[in-house]
Amino acid sequence: MSNEPISYSRRFVILVSGRGSNMMAILKQSSPGQCAAVISNRPDAGALEVARSLGIVTVVIDHTEFGSRELFDHALAEAIDRFSPDLLVLAGFMRILGTSFVDHFAGRTINIHPSLLPAFPGVRTHARALEAGVSYHGCTVHIVTSELDGGPILAQASVPVFADDDEATLSKRVLEQEHLLYPRVVQDWLAGKYDALRKSLLVKQT
Ligand code: GRF
Repeated sequence: MSNEPISYSRRFVILVSGRGSNMMAILKQSSPGQCAAVISNRPDAGALEVARSLGIVTVVIDHTEFGSRELFDHALAEAIDRFSPDLLVLAGFMRILGTSFVDHFAGRTINIHPSLLPAFPGVRTHARALEAGVSYHGCTVHIVTSELDGGPILAQASVPVFADDDEATLSKRVLEQEHLLYPRVVQDWLAGKYDALRKSLLVKQT
C-alpha cells in the first residue's frame, strides 16, 4: 500500500436563479468533480440548461411551491446538504436567505455583488453608481452573513466609469471583471487561502 496521504479535494455547490454567466466562468476554471451540483430556485433559469450540458448534476427547489421563506430555506438547505459541499457559491441567486440558513452554512458561503462594497449594497447598483457620479465602480466577492451584502470582503475588482456610460455599458464592463474575479476566489478558497479568516469568523460566532 502507498504511504501517500489521501488527497481530499474540496467541492462546491453553486446556487443560481438566472442566466449563469458567473457559474459558467467558475465551471470553466474548475477541475472535473469540483462542482458537486448546481441548484436553482427557478425551474426556467438558463443556467440549469448550461450546467446539464456540461454533465453537472442540477436540482430545482422552486420557491413558489413553499408557503413560507422558512420552509423554502429548509428544503434548500436539505438539498445542499446531500452533496456535503465545502463551499456554497451564490452566483446570481436572487432570494434573500434567512438567518437559520445563513447560520447553517456560516463560514462557507460566498457571493458576488456588482459594486465596490460597502458602496451600493442591494439592487440597481450600476444605475445608482451612475446617479452618484462615481469615477470607479466594480464588483466584490464576500462571505455571506445575515447582513445583506455586508459580510467580510474577500476580493474586489474595479473599473473606470466613463462620461458616456449608461447602465448597459457599465454593467458589461463590471461583468467582465466578475468573470475573472469569482473563479479565482473560488479556487483560492478551495486551496485553503481563506482558511484562517473562515476559522476566525466561526470562532467569533461561538
Ligand atoms: C451578476 O451581476 C452578479 O454580480 C449578481 O447577479 C448577476 C448574476 O449574473 N449577483 P449571472 O447569472 O452570473 O450572469
